[in-house]
Amino acid sequence: MEHTISITPQAERKVTDTKSVPFGKIPTEHMFVAEYRNGEWQNARVSPFHDLTLSPLSLCLHYGQTVFEGMKAFTMADGRISIFRIEKHYERFTKSLFRLCMPHVPNKLFINAIKQLVKLDSDWVPREDDGSLYIRPFMIATEARVGIKESDEYLFMVVCSPAFQYYTKPLKVRVETDYVRAADGGTGNAKCGGNYGGALYPTHLAKEAGYDQVLWTNCIHHEFIEESGTMNAMFVIDGTLITPELSGTILDGVTRNSLLTLAREKRIKTEERRISYHELIKAFESGNKVEAFGAGTAAVVAPIEIIAIGHKEYKCYTEPDALMYQLQKELHDIRKGLLPDTHNWNEIVE
Ligand code: COI
Repeated sequence: MEHTISITPQAERKVTDTKSVPFGKIPTEHMFVAEYRNGEWQNARVSPFHDLTLSPLSLCLHYGQTVFEGMKAFTMADGRISIFRIEKHYERFTKSLFRLCMPHVPNKLFINAIKQLVKLDSDWVPREDDGSLYIRPFMIATEARVGIKESDEYLFMVVCSPAFQYYTKPLKVRVETDYVRAADGGTGNAKCGGNYGGALYPTHLAKEAGYDQVLWTNCIHHEFIEESGTMNAMFVIDGTLITPELSGTILDGVTRNSLLTLAREKRIKTEERRISYHELIKAFESGNKVEAFGAGTAAVVAPIEIIAIGHKEYKCYTEPDALMYQLQKELHDIRKGLLPDTHNWNEIVE
C-alpha cells in the first residue's frame, strides 16, 4: 500500500547556528511521524517539530521496546544534498525491528519520509566541510498498558540535527573485562535503546578513571574485542585492517562496512575475525605500529591514542599518515561528491 505523507511547514523559518552546540541538542524545524494502529501505518506526516503526549502507561517507557537508526545527509560540492547509504540503514532498521517484535516499515515509507523531511529542512544541512545533518529515525511502543506484551501501537518518527566533529581529540579507552555490552543470543546486533542504556554505567566508571570510553570484550572470555564505546572497533596492525567479525553481539556498522570496502579497493589487506587483547599487547610489545579507531555514523572515524589493558597503557599510532585518516578522507570525498560514487552510496534528495 502506498502511504501519502502530508506536509505542514513551519509558518516562520529560521536556521539556528549550531556549530558550537553539543551533538544532537538542536533539532531542525520539522519532524516526521506515522502511527501504527489496527495493524497498519496511518497518518504519515511531516510537521513542525513538537513534543509528544504519551500515556505514562506506554509500553516503551517500561520495557524498552524501542529501536533507532542514525544516518547522515551532506551538502555536496555542487550544492546538491545527498543521504549516505539510506538503503543499508533501512536494512538494519528492519532487522532491529524484527528482533524487538516491532512492526515492519515499508521501504517506500521509510525512504520517502526521510527524503521529504530532509528536503523541507535542507537549509539545515551544513555546508561546512566538517558538517552534516544527523538523521535519527526511531520507533517506540505506545500502547498504554503496564502489562508486558508486544505493543499493538507504535509511533515511527524521524528527527534531524546538524552535526559537526563528534570528538575533538583522539580517545583514551580502556579494555573492559568486568561488564559486557552484549551476550550471545542477546540484542547486540540490533540498534535498540537498551544496548545503550546498559552501557552507561561501565562508561561512567571508565570516565571516572580518566578514560573516554571502554573497549568492550566478549561475554564468555572477556578477552576478545567487540566494540569501542558506541562504535565498531577497528585496528591496523602491520598494514592489515582488522575488525571483529560480525556476530550476534556486534552491530553491522554502515561506516565499518564502507571503510572495509574502501580498504579492499585500495588492495589493503583486511581481516574480519576475532582479535583478543593479548594479540594487541603482543603487537604493542613487538614495537609494531598499531592504529586503533572507532567507526560509527556520528563520529565517522574516532582515532584512539591510548588503550589501557589492565594497569598498563599502550600508545597507538595517530600520526597524519595513518591509514585511518586516508580512509576517512576518501569516505568524506565520496560523500561530498569530490570523488566518484562508484557504489551508489549517495542518495540524492531532489
Ligand atoms: C551513531 O554513531 O550513529 C550512533 O548511533 C551512536 C549514537 C549513540 C550517537
